[in-house]
Amino acid sequence: MGWMTWERYRCITDCSTSGPSHCINEQLIKDMADRLAKDGWLEAGYKQVSIDDCWALPERDEKGQQVADPTRFPSGMAALGKYIHDRGLLFGTYSDIGSKTCAGKVGLQGHFDEDARLFASWGVDYIKVDGCYEELKDMQADYPAFGAALNRTGRPIVYSCSWPAYLPHHCEGSDACMASLVENCNLWRNYGDVDDSWQSVTGIVNFWKRRNSSDEMVRAAGPGHWNDPDMLIVGNFGLSQSEEQTQFALWAIFAAPLFMSNDLRMISAESKEILQNREVISVNQDVLGKQGFCVAGCDGDLRVWVRELSGQEAAVVLQNAGTGGDGSNITVDSSMISWFPERSTFLARDLFAKTDLGVFPGHVTLFVHVSSCRMLKLSQQKQVQGITI
Ligand code: GLA
Repeated sequence: MGWMTWERYRCITDCSTSGPSHCINEQLIKDMADRLAKDGWLEAGYKQVSIDDCWALPERDEKGQQVADPTRFPSGMAALGKYIHDRGLLFGTYSDIGSKTCAGKVGLQGHFDEDARLFASWGVDYIKVDGCYEELKDMQADYPAFGAALNRTGRPIVYSCSWPAYLPHHCEGSDACMASLVENCNLWRNYGDVDDSWQSVTGIVNFWKRRNSSDEMVRAAGPGHWNDPDMLIVGNFGLSQSEEQTQFALWAIFAAPLFMSNDLRMISAESKEILQNREVISVNQDVLGKQGFCVAGCDGDLRVWVRELSGQEAAVVLQNAGTGGDGSNITVDSSMISWFPERSTFLARDLFAKTDLGVFPGHVTLFVHVSSCRMLKLSQQKQVQGITI
């Protein structure tokens, strides 16, 4: 969990036009680190600040080393890493497995070991490695090779691979492709980039609309190796409040990494409340680490998503993906939850309203507005001599 530059700040490098606090520079990173540490984000679990593309110069220096742009990062990356660590946060960065990054800065190609050592010397805790300027046929060998170079540094560095996002089939239907990701990467971008719109979120959600726990993508997720549907855009310009709740709820069902890309210096109280909702975060972070999936209505608008939680509990999202009218009832039935016994009685808690809705005999029906969701946690109740406990 943390914050990342790309969706909100892209490759804004002309700080004189954007203003010095709204471009990819050390001030932006320091501001966000301060906000994470001071505004309750760190306590809620958001503990990393990550610089995506456009921190590096387009060319290596005369010693063949990658260099951070000295006009935008005058103190250097090691000092920035220290600033981040001093606030109890982790330091994330970005590069590319090919000869250049997607925005044309220096890539890792031909320099795996020295670049891995350089990042380790800066105190980097996490690196996202993109796949531009690389032949598809070389990715299968090069991503594991850079992972091995990271391991040789001796510093634990989380390794985020963008490799399946570049494959025409995104690893879909291929157990071997997924197994290679699980073995070599800690997380990986499966699909295209998120933009600041509901249409963009919907496109990603449709790819994540897996139908059961035996799907190869669902099975691949677990502690230490996660599918990554890309950043949270909650707090930006493109989503209504109910769409923001829906992105957050579904990312919790997906067991997704939670990286916000927004402006924490001027976020609304409503968006902050969504992102800091401890009950939804605890679903996202559940120790079993199982990814959820869609169990009913998946081809239509009235969808039921479920995720198995530790203690045999279930997280449920009732999503109305319709876009016209007021709303509809959506029912979750215990028969949709494979780890619940037939007709189980359960306590339902509404995670956005933060209230218990009551004990239900096998199913619960709620009204859900269009472009909205309701998120529940269901806990099985045992019957002992006629009393529900
Ligand atoms: C690709 C990635 C994005 C971002 C940009 C940077 O498009 O998918 O997430 O890192 O490159 O240039």
